[in-house]
Amino acid sequence: MLVVSNLFTYIFIILLTGILLISLKPDRDKDIRGKRFLKWGSIVGLILTTGVSVYQLCHMLYTQFSLPLSEAIFQVLTKFQAGHAWLAIVFCLFVMMIIEGTSQKRSHRFTEYSQLFLLIGIMFFISLTSHSGASEGLLGSLVHLLHMLAFSFWLGPLFVMAWLTKPKESIHDFHRWFSPLAMFTFSMLVISGILLMNFLIPNYMNSWAIDYGQAMLWKHLLFIPVIVFGFRHLYLLKKYPQWLSKIEYQRSFRVESLYAFLVLAISSWMTEREPPLEISMSEGYNSLFLLFHNQAVDGVLQSSWTFTSVTFIIGSLVIFLSTGYYLLKRKLLSIAVIMLLLAHICLYIGLMLIRIIILG
Ligand code: HEM
Repeated sequence: MLVVSNLFTYIFIILLTGILLISLKPDRDKDIRGKRFLKWGSIVGLILTTGVSVYQLCHMLYTQFSLPLSEAIFQVLTKFQAGHAWLAIVFCLFVMMIIEGTSQKRSHRFTEYSQLFLLIGIMFFISLTSHSGASEGLLGSLVHLLHMLAFSFWLGPLFVMAWLTKPKESIHDFHRWFSPLAMFTFSMLVISGILLMNFLIPNYMNSWAIDYGQAMLWKHLLFIPVIVFGFRHLYLLKKYPQWLSKIEYQRSFRVESLYAFLVLAISSWMTEREPPLEISMSEGYNSLFLLFHNQAVDGVLQSSWTFTSVTFIIGSLVIFLSTGYYLLKRKLLSIAVIMLLLAHICLYIGLMLIRIIILG
């Protein structure tokens, strides 16, 4: 349940960010299909999805510690960080509702900027209860906030442009404001991601033995097509904007957003797994890892490259690069998606075929 609620939380945050950022462009405000319904739906949805962990804590106190329900709710909302964070999130969402409800009487910009400010507050309170917030305190929460800001400011406009607006006549305006934003948020995403990994994953390769590490690996593998399509849009919009029609651009944005959705789905599962920092390696190996390393790995792992693993990895890199080249020369996206799938399988097998040696 937490994995699904996490995913909806990210989708609601990304939708709200995308709608607010695009609505800041006065000529685009009216283009967004179902704008008011999606805004109200996301605001109300966030109250529920961010409350699931609070509900689970109350349920645990009520069932396992036989606390009266009212006492359990009171304890969680007053004594637990998750309860405090949720109360703060609900407060921000209520203020967002009031602003939305009275937006007719206000300036357009006040509504969008004040709601964006509140949304950043909500991301901060979510980051307070993250793994990096737990292990590194305020610094960990701030880096996590940076990560959430990066993916929502990047994927928000992308999702809204791809799925909620009509294909745009002149794609140039979009390119003019979105490409610099995409490049900035992309670098912020990678830097904050590496910092978060530093906080939570002492040894990346060793972490592949457990669920969290496998999720992190698949997240990186699925991040590659997001980069490949992102580069395609950047390059074509800059060099040959007319080569693709507005519908072909929108179809390409949709494929990029679907890969990004897969990264979100994996992240929502990953955040419910214990990072390597919080568990010892022998507390349960990932079943996919055991497919390639069926010997029990109890001790310090040392990994070394094998000829087969290197061959698979180089093969996948060749396929990734040719897919990138293909996407700059051809328009049929299904071929590119199949090539990317092949590259993913090769890269994953290549990495899993790296020999694991147990030291002591
Ligand atoms: C499109 C690209 C990406 C998206 C959409 C994305 C999304 C996310 C999301 C939704 C979370 C979980 C937030 C939470 O609920 O706590 C997260 C956490 C994280 N991400 Fe990313 N991310 C992306 C790229 C990256 C990259 C490139 C890296 C590493 C270089 C990375 C490393 C991490 C780490 C270490 C965490 C912390 C997880 C935790 O708290 O346990 N992410 N990311």
